[in-house]
Amino acid sequence: MAKTILVIGSSGQIGTELVLKLRQIYGNENVIASDIRVANYEVMKSGPFEILDATKKRDILKVIKKYKVKQVYLMAAMLSAIAEKHPHKAWSLNMTTLLNVLDLAKEKAIKQVFWPSSIAVFGSSSPKQNTPQETIMAPSTVYGISKVAGENWCAYYHDKYGVDVRSVRYPGIISYKTVPGGGTTDYAVEIFHEAIKNESYTSFLNANSTLPMMYMGDAIDATVNIMRHEKFDKYTSYNIAAISFSPKEIAKVIKKFIPKFSINYKSDDRQAIADSWPQSIDDKQAKRDWNWNYNFDLESLVKLMLNGLNYKI
Ligand code: SER
Repeated sequence: MAKTILVIGSSGQIGTELVLKLRQIYGNENVIASDIRVANYEVMKSGPFEILDATKKRDILKVIKKYKVKQVYLMAAMLSAIAEKHPHKAWSLNMTTLLNVLDLAKEKAIKQVFWPSSIAVFGSSSPKQNTPQETIMAPSTVYGISKVAGENWCAYYHDKYGVDVRSVRYPGIISYKTVPGGGTTDYAVEIFHEAIKNESYTSFLNANSTLPMMYMGDAIDATVNIMRHEKFDKYTSYNIAAISFSPKEIAKVIKKFIPKFSINYKSDDRQAIADSWPQSIDDKQAKRDWNWNYNFDLESLVKLMLNGLNYKI
């Protein structure tokens, strides 16, 4: 049976591609895109779109009723670097939207929720390598604080009200359709645009600043698959992992395809955020519980990015 899905934040980096994938699977008319600003052309022309401010619960409910929505993917959020500049706004946006959607699930207006968490839940006191699913989570960023709190709210609504909410902790996500806005891992997308345009890039993270990363295709698979999986007894926001690399390492692979490419380093405020995050993630629980695995390694990611940005390799 077709289910009607609402994606909130469909103009963002992940939302854009999530809508397109969900439309492929469930049919264009069954996936409603929504955001406070219009989405990219492909999203706008392939199915329904609503302008929606997710901080207003009544407005979300209106869209849910209009389309008889069963499932909500809440992708609207303020990312790490920009949240450091606007702490109150970030907290308010990230929390209000989540509590609105969780309340709607509690009130049975919808049946199922997806909410993205992040590697930003971890902080300097968490293990840096193979960071386990369950470990100390004392983030040093506003964004991380909102994600830890969000995970706890999801667990609370699940345990107390039986809300079916599912979640993964995304690493840095790399894609070519929509650029990320205001994150710490954004360099790994910018580097491709600059490599193609100028054959050089000045990284705002240090040469050896290793972070967990993932190609968008894998992130979308994780999202779709965790929502489809039958087994779901206990709320957990799952660690998911693919590849880890530093600016220096990705630059080396780009150079294979663009020989004149060169990279410089000039770190800024985002370095401290990166330094507080894990370098690699242990995702064995996601592998065990819902067969998670990734497909794209660093070399295939670089090829896909260059192709996607119309650079002939
Ligand atoms: N990519 C995100 C950021 O950099 C992490 O979740 O903020």
